Amino acid sequence: MRLLDKTSPAFLYQQVIDFVEHQQKIGALSPGDKLPSLRKLSRQFEISVPTVKQAYIELERQGRVCARPQSGYYLTALQARTLKPRPAKWSHCAPTTVQCRSMIEQVHEAVHLPDTVALGISNPIQVNPPDKTLARLMRSVLSRVAEKAVSYGPPIGDAKLRMQLAFRYQDQGVAINPNDILITNGAQEALSIALQCVAKQGDIIAIESPCFFGMIELIETLGMKALEVYTCTEDGVCLDELASAIKQHPIKACLFSTAINNPLGSMKTDEQRQAIVSLLEHNNIPLIEDDVYSELYFSEQKPKPAQLYSEKGLVMTCSSFSKTAAPGYRTGWLLPGKYEEQAKRIKRAQSCSTAMLQQWTLNEYIQSGDYDRHLCVLRKKLIYNCERMRALIAEHFPSEVCISKPQGGSVLWVRCQSHVNTGAFFQAALEKGVSFAPGVIFSPSGKYANYMRISYGVQWNEQVEDAVKTLGELVFDYSFKQLDQQQAVLKSLDKKSDQQ
Ligand SMILES: Cc1ncc(COP(=O)(O)O)c(C=O)c1O
Repeated sequence: MRLLDKTSPAFLYQQVIDFVEHQQKIGALSPGDKLPSLRKLSRQFEISVPTVKQAYIELERQGRVCARPQSGYYLTALQARTLKPRPAKWSHCAPTTVQCRSMIEQVHEAVHLPDTVALGISNPIQVNPPDKTLARLMRSVLSRVAEKAVSYGPPIGDAKLRMQLAFRYQDQGVAINPNDILITNGAQEALSIALQCVAKQGDIIAIESPCFFGMIELIETLGMKALEVYTCTEDGVCLDELASAIKQHPIKACLFSTAINNPLGSMKTDEQRQAIVSLLEHNNIPLIEDDVYSELYFSEQKPKPAQLYSEKGLVMTCSSFSKTAAPGYRTGWLLPGKYEEQAKRIKRAQSCSTAMLQQWTLNEYIQSGDYDRHLCVLRKKLIYNCERMRALIAEHFPSEVCISKPQGGSVLWVRCQSHVNTGAFFQAALEKGVSFAPGVIFSPSGKYANYMRISYGVQWNEQVEDAVKTLGELVFDYSFKQLDQQQAVLKSLDKKSDQQ
């Protein structure tokens, strides 16, 4: 164990910084690792806690560590170039229909391919699967419910689960009654019902850009048009852009990830969320908030739902247990605001009810306290994986590549050089046993061709590391080939002009 040299002219805090650097050099600390606590290091080196803190603050200032409230200091991926706001010129969009359907289909299919490392799907629970606990609870439920296990459930869902959800919203200040909650088949059904409550074929729906491709497909399937609104890598959909879009287009509703955006990982402050709600309610435009990632925040506090700020009942909140517990259970919910009657009618017409066994199991899971304990572990592991993945991409991709620094969720948004078309090597990646999500599917108008979404919601192992290396090689290969082609074209143009 190295000790500090208290006779050296070097400041003690600088020696602590040297110690952290040394640990990193010898591989004892890697990106994503937690640094020893202030108290532990101060005891170890027999120096004061403020001295260690001074060193950590300096490392944080240099961007080499990040502080996670109530958790500690973590080593960041130093060499990763962070994606900054306004990466490219933003050209205002016209409402559009989807142009990338076949690529979306391929990404979905790739999820189930055998022997493929699925970096294209956002499935955070893989980091900490709660399958055993849920299986135990489901067995216990089954032993008690007898023939009810195979009967129809009420269209609005299990009363106890709705009660649990209401408590969780009430904790955040939302005055919601269990009867105001509708249980759905995942968040996707909640989004679909919400859209059908407020818009019809041909209507314009404002979405974030980039936007989760499931929303884009849904809008298209319902015959509506999507209008992309510029969304910042740090704090989500841009208020000014939204205000100007409202002036230019008859927007029927907005469909935004109000907590954490997929794929950007951006997160609004509660004040910014409130400002969006008041702008929309002032213009009588309903807001459909997609809240599926709100439990996977990396900051100190869970983001508040936009629902909290609604005064006119125009906010409809959609969420689910898919990103936190069990996507296969297909259990989500909708807070329909003032559209309660329409929502219940559409739910009955669309799918009658949602499977009960999963709802009873999830109710027990929350009630036991296991769900919240699981969420704590899940968040910690995601924070860790996030930095590891950023470091790995920075190591194996071209140095021009920029990587998002998410504030939650389970995906990274990666910008390659402008001439790279990530969709062009999607098949080649599958053949090499890796899937990813090409950027083009996150925009109905086909923006983001040089981007890719890579998931860090994975069980970390050697195959994951090899898969990232493979993706890096594909980006290198593609960019070299493109440059060769460009040079060949330039040469042939030179030749022609010589001959003239
Ligand atoms: C942003 C976002 N919204 C909604 C969904 C759909 O969630 P569910 O599986 O609960 O239908 C997903 C799933 O990937 C998502 O990423």
